[in-house]
Amino acid sequence: MKSTEIRKKFLEYFASKGHEIVASAPMVIKDDPTLMFTNAGMNQFKDVFLGNSNPDQKRVTDSQKCLRVSGKHNDLEEVGVDTYHHTMFEMLGNWSFGDYFKKEAIEWAWDLLVNELGVDKSNLYASVFGGDKADGLDVDSEALEIWKAIIPEDRILLCDKTDNFWEMGETGPCGPCSEIHVDLRSDEDKAKVPGAELVNKDHPEVIEIWNLVFMEFNRKKDKSLEPLPSKHIDTGMGFERLATVLQGKSSNYDTDVFTPLIEKISELTKQSYGRTDSKSDVAIRVISDHVRAVAFSIADGQLPSNTGAGYVIRRILRRAIRYAYSFLEMDHAFIFELVEVLDSQLGEHYSELRGQKQLIAKVIHEEEENFLRTLEKGLGRLGDIMKGTEGDTSDGKQVFELSDTFGFPVDLTALIASEKDLKIDEVGFEAELQIQKERSRSVAKIDASDWVEIYEDSIEEFVGYDQLSAKVKITRYREIKTKGDTFFHLVFNLTPFYPSGGGQVGDRGKIVSGKETIGILDTTKENNVIIHKSKNLPTDLKAIFHADVNPETRNNTELNHTGTHLLHHALREVLGTHVEQKGSLVNAKHLRFDFSHFSKMTLEEIQQVENRVNELIRDNNSLEEHRMMPIDEAKDAGAMMLFGEKYGDTVRMIQFGGSKELCGGTHVQATGDIGLFKILHESAIAAGIRRIEAISGQRALDHVNDTLGDLSAVKAMMKNPQDVEKAIQDLINTNGTLQKQLEQFNRAKAKGLKGELLGQIQEVNGVNFLAVEVDLGPNEVKDLSFQLKSEVDHLFAVFGSKNDGKALLTCVISESVVEQKKLNAGAIIQELAKEINGGGGGQAFFATAGGKSPEGIKKALKNAANFLS
Ligand code: SER
Repeated sequence: MKSTEIRKKFLEYFASKGHEIVASAPMVIKDDPTLMFTNAGMNQFKDVFLGNSNPDQKRVTDSQKCLRVSGKHNDLEEVGVDTYHHTMFEMLGNWSFGDYFKKEAIEWAWDLLVNELGVDKSNLYASVFGGDKADGLDVDSEALEIWKAIIPEDRILLCDKTDNFWEMGETGPCGPCSEIHVDLRSDEDKAKVPGAELVNKDHPEVIEIWNLVFMEFNRKKDKSLEPLPSKHIDTGMGFERLATVLQGKSSNYDTDVFTPLIEKISELTKQSYGRTDSKSDVAIRVISDHVRAVAFSIADGQLPSNTGAGYVIRRILRRAIRYAYSFLEMDHAFIFELVEVLDSQLGEHYSELRGQKQLIAKVIHEEEENFLRTLEKGLGRLGDIMKGTEGDTSDGKQVFELSDTFGFPVDLTALIASEKDLKIDEVGFEAELQIQKERSRSVAKIDASDWVEIYEDSIEEFVGYDQLSAKVKITRYREIKTKGDTFFHLVFNLTPFYPSGGGQVGDRGKIVSGKETIGILDTTKENNVIIHKSKNLPTDLKAIFHADVNPETRNNTELNHTGTHLLHHALREVLGTHVEQKGSLVNAKHLRFDFSHFSKMTLEEIQQVENRVNELIRDNNSLEEHRMMPIDEAKDAGAMMLFGEKYGDTVRMIQFGGSKELCGGTHVQATGDIGLFKILHESAIAAGIRRIEAISGQRALDHVNDTLGDLSAVKAMMKNPQDVEKAIQDLINTNGTLQKQLEQFNRAKAKGLKGELLGQIQEVNGVNFLAVEVDLGPNEVKDLSFQLKSEVDHLFAVFGSKNDGKALLTCVISESVVEQKKLNAGAIIQELAKEINGGGGGQAFFATAGGKSPEGIKKALKNAANFLS
């Protein structure tokens, strides 16, 4: 069975059991501070489990793009080394939100695997949670009984919390689980060691394929368990592993999920795959795994960068590049060429990949070229470090600097060092790494307390599209400690405050009760809960508050948000429909819009776009807000949707004339409110991604007036010429001519002076000595010194000159004099500089000193002769 069929069969099976097939959520997470990437199918439903939102359906099924690179579930450094771990993988899942529970979950999983997909049941094992004292939990006897009715008891294993209690992270929804494992070994091996002994033992051929989680609890910060409002099912099956089982392979990399990629890598690198245990096999696995992770992240709007999620992506790609560099001898970019293969495999199911493959390849290509250059530079630096190495160990601090500053990987350093019979100082390196980790931890550390409930309402209503004030209750709060600061997160029963999202910043304002006013400093959204940040807690937490959004910032922000929609629309008209939003920031001051486009915009294009936006403003189209539109209707209407956004069954469509976007933000009532739109900059932020910064409303007008004001001032200075551009050009031309003349004049003067000075040289103790004050600038004195030095043997000369009211002494000595008379210009100039109240230095044959007292120049020149006596 081909992998595409396997995915389809899974989804269809659960659809036949009343599940709605939903799309994978984006792999990059935007509104959860505890997670950067989707690491399990259940992430997109976390708010439903926590009771923050009501689900659209009670039963759903999907194939979710997941990424596990660090933390609880995976380690990047292991991927590719074995044959069954991945960074990115697909998780097939079925969910029940407060609907069916253990019995159906277990029975359907079994039915699908054995009866529908034909997995040999004699190869299957089930594990059941065996209880945990610390958490006060008993054996999951309910699951145990259900399994006993299905498989022989010796195939059921009781396992502890590490394997059979699933938790998403340090805190959050969790519960006991039951896993299905499969034994893929040969009959011969099975006869030697029973499969039951190898379950959960990291055996490459006895692997977990499906995890059935019975979500019942929320793990709190103090580690205690709190029952969830209702019980849910969350199952996750590794799609790639299932393909391994059904295609009769012993490794995921041998299934058709990976073979097309591996074949292409072999073709491009001219290295065959399948040489057991060879480093090149590891490298090929690493690349075939990593390109998937990177391509899907870019498709979801996360570009490689130097911070946060972008940095994780950059590190993954760099790991692939350096494996190719070290073990496949690839010193040029090629990974980008795999995007085409990925598209032909996955583009059908994941339209975000197909729609953006050109951009993805372009971004990967540029990253590859940049990192290969870094590797070259790092190699040079490494050579220097090794040259300076005494003994046989390099300095850990330098190795760390190499990895930290140049991004030069430690394992590569170790490899190159070992080729030269050197070791790297791993202890020293680890110590430096630890110091840096501590440093970044102490900066980033945010400590949030558990929520304190005040009222029970758990679902909060947003009323901010229609009103800027409301009467509200605080339903819960928590305390947040950052380094040196404490503040609070407040949740209301309803709120007019817009939480930052879709590029638009969060609202600010205040809540008032009686005489007490609490400032709302920012509003954000976390797992579908709107959070208001305040410095203090009100005295009476149970009071009714009057909540007010700051109208001025909100209104100015709205001008820029609607302006952004019009800009997006105009860009697609002027540049073409390949333009897609790749990032956006909208606040009260300005807007920033990132979009895909492959070349720099010309001045005419920028002007055309700006004109078009202002035309749309003058059209004064009214806001048409479709708040609960079925998503298919919005698609049919041609609304702009963004890759990397999560949309529900119903969406909000914002329309101004021909501009239609799915958007949760707040907008003006009619485009005319914007008044004026002005583009300030157009630039590149990554391969294939451009950025426009713009302003609108009064700010745009102020900007135009300021610029006109500057121009008037310039005109006035130029005595109001007819054509100001020409007048300035003339001025520049004249200035250039004068500069040239001045240089010629100075050169002639220096030449004359040199002739004069040659005549003033005296012989003192066998040395040609000259000490004289000259009327030249610092560079000219330097030129003169070197000219004299090359023309006169055995020279010792000191020059005094003045520059901007300060004194300068310059000393030049022929090498022969330095040697024979042991004179040193650096030392001499320091001594002489005392007379001019200054200091200086240089080399033995040339040195300069500056000082505050030009009146001391004469004395200094007089003293110079003393060095010869
Ligand atoms: N949440 C569980 C897992 O990720 C099942 O989906 O394994």
